[in-house]
Order: sequence, then C-alpha cells, then structure tokens
Amino acid sequence: MNINFEGKTVLISGAAGSLGSQLVHDYCSSGVGTLILLDLDEKEEELINLKKQYGSQAKVFTYCIDLTSVEQIMQVVKQIEKDELSVDILINNAGINILSKVVETSELIWDKIIDLNLKGSFFLTKAIGESSLVENKGNVIFVSSQHGVVGNQMRAAYCSSKSALVGLVHALTAEWSTYGVRVNSIAPTFILNNKNEEFLLGPREKRNYLNKIPLHRYAVPEDVSNAILFLTSDKASMITGHNLLVDGGYTSI
Ligand SMILES: NC(=O)c1ccc[n+]([C@@H]2O[C@H](COP(=O)([O-])OP(=O)(O)OC[C@H]3O[C@@H](n4cnc5c(N)ncnc54)[C@H](O)[C@@H]3O)[C@@H](O)[C@H]2O)c1
Repeated sequence: MNINFEGKTVLISGAAGSLGSQLVHDYCSSGVGTLILLDLDEKEEELINLKKQYGSQAKVFTYCIDLTSVEQIMQVVKQIEKDELSVDILINNAGINILSKVVETSELIWDKIIDLNLKGSFFLTKAIGESSLVENKGNVIFVSSQHGVVGNQMRAAYCSSKSALVGLVHALTAEWSTYGVRVNSIAPTFILNNKNEEFLLGPREKRNYLNKIPLHRYAVPEDVSNAILFLTSDKASMITGHNLLVDGGYTSI
C-alpha cells in the first residue's frame, strides 16, 4: 500500500518525545509537505535538532508551548496563522503519566494529567479546527492508550484522561463529520523507548505487563506511528470515530 502525504501539512504535539520524533521521521519518509512541531520550552533544542535533521525533506516549523495553558494554545495558533500555515492533519500526541495509587493521587497530580492529556488536546483541536483544519476537511488523531479501554493500578487519572479522549472522538465525529473532517484515536499498549526500557524490562514489569500481552512483546514507536500514518491517510477515508488498538491483544483477554 502506497501512502503519500505530498502537499499536506501535519501538526504534531509532543514532537520531541519518543513517539513524536518517530512520527516526524515517518511523515518525512512519506513525502509530507510541511511539519509543525510543538513541545515544551525545555525541549527547544530537540525541536531545533529535528528541524535540522528533516529540514531538507519537508518545511519544518517549530513552536514552544505548554499545552496545559489555553492562553498559550491561543497565542501559538495565532502565530501559526501569521506564519501562513494551514493544518490538514492534527496529531494530539503530547501526554504524561504519573503513577500513583488512588489514595495518593493529589489534586496536583490529577490536574497535571487531565490538563495536558484531555484539556490541552481538546483546546488545541478546537483552535486548529477553527483556524484551518475544518475548512481543509482534514483529520485528527488523539493518542489514547490501552488504559483508556481497560483499567490498571496506579493510573486513576491517566485511565480517566485516556478514556475521555475516546468519548471526545465520538463527540467530534458527531459534530465535524458534516464538514468532512475525520476524527480517530489510537490505543497503544506499553511502548518501549530509551526512557522506560529499564523499567519495562524489569522482572516484575515483565510478569505484570509483558506476560499479559498475547503477542508477547511490547510495542515500539514504529508500530504506533504506522497505525497513525494509515489512519491519517486517504487509505482510511471511510474510517472516523474509531479507536484503533495497537496493543498486541492486551485488551482482548
Ligand atoms: N510510552 C508508552 O508506553 C505509552 C503507551 C500508551 C500511550 N502512550 C501515549 O503516547 C503519547 C506519546 O508518549 P511517548 O511515549 O512518546 O512519551 P514522551 O514522554 O517521550 O513524549 C511526550 C512528549 O510530550 C511533551 N509534553 C509533556 N508535557 C507537555 C506540555 N505540558 N505541553 C507540551 N508538550 C508536553 C514532552 O516534552 C514529550 O516530548 C502520550 O500521549 C502517551 O500517553 C504512551
């Protein structure tokens, strides 16, 4: 199957992270026209490096933003408009998890997780939708999780935020299909990366997590990126309102 994003503009939040940078690589390999990369101030250097690395393959624009601030979202979207960029594909990838038992989950932990994973994703989608994406009949991805479908210990706020994204996909599908906009989410299992490798490959985690994945391996960023590229391509033009599990069967058993 030949997937091509020639002439398309793709916005990726959390672009300097593990899945974000894989997406940058894969969209560039698939001929994307323009990339708009968002991440925190502290990730500015990583954003600049991505621009250097991929700037010969696509036009790359970078913006520093804290997505928990609706005010910053409005400012950055205004700047994106000033830079005459018009978004076709929006990938709400930025997200955090802070492991804590229910009884130890403070208001601060709750707000940090919900304000980024749910609120930030909603307000970014609203602002980009109004600015260009709806007019472009574009499409939106929310990066949810298997923990938006099934529960797990130490993840009350995270599970709440990721299952709420699935609800948001349904609501946006109800409102935006009429404009030709597709909205989907992706629900990965544990994704192995440099930061979590030591943790996920520990004996306890292998027992509690890996052994519960029927395919008996953790996902890698490419597994998730491949699914996102498919859903955002013309090959998925009849797919909207869907939550695509990339979980090796974790939620099936
Ligand atoms: N890693 C996993 O096992 C896993 C599993 C399922 C789902 N997910 C989801 O996949 C997505 C990507 O995760 P990842 O593994 O690449 O994580 P990551 O930590 O490598 O990347 C997340 C990025 O989001 C950015 N970010 C954090 N707070 C932000 C804020 N307030 N404003 C703007 N940007 C902010 C970070 O700087 C980082 O670059 C997340 O939504 C995560 O919840 C991850």
